[in-house]
Amino acid sequence: MNILIIGSGGREHTLTWKLAQSKQCSKLFVAPGNAGTDEIALNVDLSVTDFEGIKALVLEEKIDMVIVGPEAPLVAGIVDFFKADKQLKKIRIVGPDAAGAQLEGSKDFSKDFMMKHGVPTAFSKTFTKDTLEEGKSYIEQNKGPYVLKADGLAAGKGVIITEDAAEAKQSLHEMLAEAKFGDASSKVLIEQFLSGIELSVFVLTDGKNYVILPEAKDYKRIGEADTGLNTGGMGAVSPVPFADEAFLSKVEEQVVKPTLEGLQKEGIHYVGFIFIGLMNQDGEPKVIEYNVRMGDPETQVVFPRIQTDAVRLFKAAADGKLDKVKLKVTPKTAVTSVVVAGGYPEAYKKGDVMDIPEADKDKLIFHAGTAIQGEEVVTNGGRVMALTGMAKTLNAAVKKSQSMARKVKYKGKYYRKDIGQDLLALIQK
Ligand code: AMP
Ligand code: GLY
Repeated sequence: MNILIIGSGGREHTLTWKLAQSKQCSKLFVAPGNAGTDEIALNVDLSVTDFEGIKALVLEEKIDMVIVGPEAPLVAGIVDFFKADKQLKKIRIVGPDAAGAQLEGSKDFSKDFMMKHGVPTAFSKTFTKDTLEEGKSYIEQNKGPYVLKADGLAAGKGVIITEDAAEAKQSLHEMLAEAKFGDASSKVLIEQFLSGIELSVFVLTDGKNYVILPEAKDYKRIGEADTGLNTGGMGAVSPVPFADEAFLSKVEEQVVKPTLEGLQKEGIHYVGFIFIGLMNQDGEPKVIEYNVRMGDPETQVVFPRIQTDAVRLFKAAADGKLDKVKLKVTPKTAVTSVVVAGGYPEAYKKGDVMDIPEADKDKLIFHAGTAIQGEEVVTNGGRVMALTGMAKTLNAAVKKSQSMARKVKYKGKYYRKDIGQDLLALIQK
């Protein structure tokens, strides 16, 4: 089977690495890919939203299945484009259509969806430019912390949390009246603050049947002890020690099932991943957000734990046969540490020559922002690569991941040295 993966990050390198292990996989293409995918697949220099270019590639290379990594092409309707095209409609494509992708593309839509279908979440109110003054009074009438969320896609930056009412009002003003996040902040949700510990649960569905993939915890802030600016993700751990069977079964009953039933009731045929960001509030799951794709760097710990053949898994998802697949997962712990370019998530440099350590079966290297320049691998993005360690214990997996992060060399390298430390402390309590 010829397969195309769309995207260029650590998530896509991980999916490519996993698919490449399948006997059912003949040719693998990644558009646009990075220096890591280039070693195991054919990179094709196409933008993820160049649907015509993707169509030409699919037809030319006789691609049988397309896996969509990031949210942008899904929200822009890549699946609808395939379904509406005579030559493409039979090609398997794993990802939701634009209607389904609203779960991530519009926080207002997803909040309404959760309220309507009884999925536990924080209460919120939505404001627009026309109701800005009401929004400000709402802030004055309620106690902080205030959680302000831009409705649309804002590259992970659209959430502002503050204790200070004046600051909340100022942020609301900037988002609505000054279009701080462009169109994405033409609506803003003010949400009840949830306290607890966060984790994410991933579902793969064929529209009817589903499998729950291993859960993960990520580390979003740039600084140690969760300080500083938000990033795409600086590390991840799977499994999550506090996500015991009782909690995960509440997630399945209270969140996963009503979400999938809700999609069906809305007439949305959803094929692909649902990434459920959750708060564990005294043992009760509350949904913070949905994403319509896998997480990055969560994929770098979730997929190494999955032992089921990835082609079989994705083919079953596209063919409506996930009920035939029983997911096999290693009990080992996976920990990933992301090395980033100096300055990230603000301005950073690209093009620094890299020295990369050897990988082995329990020490995996997933490229993100890398490129090939002549004979050398150079940095080409903010998040440069994810180093995943696998071991029987969390402690040993942390050590493997961190020792590899230490060994990667390029100018200005930075990584968090505390990935997994909070969970180790929790276990030792
Ligand atoms: P989101 O883009 O919705 O994932 O939000 C980004 C981050 O903001 C989340 O990962 C949480 O850490 C935090 N967050 C979002 N919503 C809430 C909330 N209602 N209460 C507390 N923290 C939140
Ligand atoms: N690591 C968070 C995300 O992929 O959205």
